[in-house]
Amino acid sequence: MSKAENAETSGEVGTFQEVLEARFGRRQLLRGVAKGGGLLAAAPVVALAAACEDPPGYEPGELTFESLAPSTADGLFVAPGFAAQVLISWGDPVVPGAPAFDVANQTGAAQAMQAGFNHDYLDFRPLPAWNAVSSDHGLLWINHEYTDSTMMFGTFTGSLAQTDVELAAHGGTIVEVMRAGDGTWSYNPSSAFNRRITATTPIILSGPVAGDARVMTSADPSGTMVLGMLNNCGGGHTPWGTILTAEENFDQYFGNKTTMPAGYANTACATFGPAAGVTERKWETNYSRFDLAVEPNEILRFGWIVEIDPYDPASTPKKRTAMGRFKHEAASGVVSPGGKFVSYSGDDQNNQYIYKFVTNGTVNLSDRASNMDLLDNGTLYVAKFDVSGLNGVGTWLPLTFGTGPLVSPAFADQNDVLLRARQAAAALGATKMTRPEDIDVNPVNGKVYCVMTGNRSGETNVANPRTSGSSIAAQGVGHVIEITETSGDHAGTSFAWEILLLCGEPLTAGSNPVNAPPFAMAAAPDNVTWYGGYWEDKVAPMARPDNVAFDSAGYMFLTTDGQPSALQRSLDGVNGALYACAVTGPFRGQTKAIAYGPDGCEVTGPFLTPDDKSLFFAIQHPGVDVFSWVSAGTSPTSVTKSIGSPGSAWNTTPAVGGLTPGVPRSAALVLRRTDGKEIAYGEVPAPPVGLVSGVPSSFPGLAAGAAAIGGLVALRNRRMPLEDPRPAS
Ligand code: FEO
Ligand code: CA
Ligand code: CA
Ligand code: CA
Repeated sequence: MSKAENAETSGEVGTFQEVLEARFGRRQLLRGVAKGGGLLAAAPVVALAAACEDPPGYEPGELTFESLAPSTADGLFVAPGFAAQVLISWGDPVVPGAPAFDVANQTGAAQAMQAGFNHDYLDFRPLPAWNAVSSDHGLLWINHEYTDSTMMFGTFTGSLAQTDVELAAHGGTIVEVMRAGDGTWSYNPSSAFNRRITATTPIILSGPVAGDARVMTSADPSGTMVLGMLNNCGGGHTPWGTILTAEENFDQYFGNKTTMPAGYANTACATFGPAAGVTERKWETNYSRFDLAVEPNEILRFGWIVEIDPYDPASTPKKRTAMGRFKHEAASGVVSPGGKFVSYSGDDQNNQYIYKFVTNGTVNLSDRASNMDLLDNGTLYVAKFDVSGLNGVGTWLPLTFGTGPLVSPAFADQNDVLLRARQAAAALGATKMTRPEDIDVNPVNGKVYCVMTGNRSGETNVANPRTSGSSIAAQGVGHVIEITETSGDHAGTSFAWEILLLCGEPLTAGSNPVNAPPFAMAAAPDNVTWYGGYWEDKVAPMARPDNVAFDSAGYMFLTTDGQPSALQRSLDGVNGALYACAVTGPFRGQTKAIAYGPDGCEVTGPFLTPDDKSLFFAIQHPGVDVFSWVSAGTSPTSVTKSIGSPGSAWNTTPAVGGLTPGVPRSAALVLRRTDGKEIAYGEVPAPPVGLVSGVPSSFPGLAAGAAAIGGLVALRNRRMPLEDPRPAS
């Protein structure tokens, strides 16, 4: 909660300046100063001086930078006033003694000491200790989601040596990072904190499913120790300083489904898509644990949230089975008013669900050790949006064996419910979403933001209103739902919701139905966009949002996956990008582009330092998925590139083995403003309070939910007549 918001809602008296700014906005106050300063005559001298020395061009609540025009060019571009640097790329040394990267002669042993492939979720944990608040020194966590054989090896064969490289390129990286006085960052390749976790690192299977016969294998008859984690996509962290990393598309590593022993498929594979025969990477030809015909239980040991203590390099990571098994994208946590830890997670596949996990126990930050197994006991819930009407409400349904449809013979026991969370969610009648991906909690208003990347073949409902069959965006354009937990209690079982963003290209300014709340659209074609009620002709168009993060002032940051397939300029795809979006105040929905990545990439991992002045993000698979159009308005065509003819020359290795210009590399980057101020809102105070939601009062469920978060919300229809708060240009 911002200082100004705290002053207004708690009854505490802020400085006169703060109260005035919250009520009238800083710009108006400055106008007052210019007219003679009568309005501020009683303000503290120091505050007045501060206001005068920096006449801003922006209003409180506005994103204080100039949006970058959409890019289709091969390169990393940042908005005016920003600077970005590559911090650590695929193959850079992590563990002391790591050999220099030699892409043409890579080995598993070398890769296990170097940064892995396809950087995804990033997290910054301050140093010197888990409860520090530093923004200059900390540990950078990096997910390495998956390998792309055609971009790693000159000739892919699936040999044992190549499989070992790929196993070592999965998992995660921890490196110690520090910020210099000029705002630039570096990492220390000699730090004792540095660590690689790979697809062969021992990981404890923890919680209720540990030791269950269904997770025993020939290599692990105890069912308690797994080798590695796979496809770690999104993530989160806990208040006690551990990283939560989400195993997503784990099924693609397992082959020979058609010849697996009878009786296993429903538990192991149903709703997932392991290969019928040989997999793309051929790991099962080298390691039988990836062969479902030989080890039908191994696949049940993947698809979990993994908890890692980055402050203890000797610690063994743990897979938290109480949090359920599905294609987890993210594990974004918050502490409920009652002290419980709550973690939200999407399941990234079409027609899958949004979940949250609520611990039984409570967080105790005065005794860190007491939290270290908190995630082993709790309740997993799945979201059911009320899509029968337009009330904008929903409920969290517990995945608890013995209740409702979760009884024998459909489910054997609670572990069966956890192992087959998708089937349990379906049995409960949870709402099918169009690729629910990252979720994050806004630290200022407590609301939960769920990102749907979009898909064409999904079920359409009022919470997922995109119609299918558009010729413009073959894979859909995505949307963002804002959830308000009843009474602000993240551990509760009811919520209100509305759609914050219906992404895509606003084809015609003002083309949207006036006064049609976005959550009232049972079906919305692609040219009906909704940017929180903001002027669609003034936003940076965005498609296929995937990852979401917030800064401490409540500004939202989004990165895209597959944007070039959904937005076109001059018969070329608009590249993956990093956006900021205001979600509170009069600028709600204002969306600006901060950075566009190179051709064929996905942008991932936004994460900010506690002071909001450095933003870590990643460029994943540059040069791989390159989209173009034959003619305007048609479906795009994609070309999947290979190491011999990469679709990008960004961040390449030196030219090797006839590969010119070299191999483009995934990387973690860090972005700053060259003026050293906060990324989203530098120059003006944090957003004003009281203007959180665009909820018409005719939606009583929403009104109740919104009002319940402490009276912060002034209900009004954001789209109805409203003075344009933007400065006249
Ligand atoms: Fe790995 Fe859901 O993106
Ligand atoms: Ca291009
Ligand atoms: Ca993702
Ligand atoms: Ca996130």
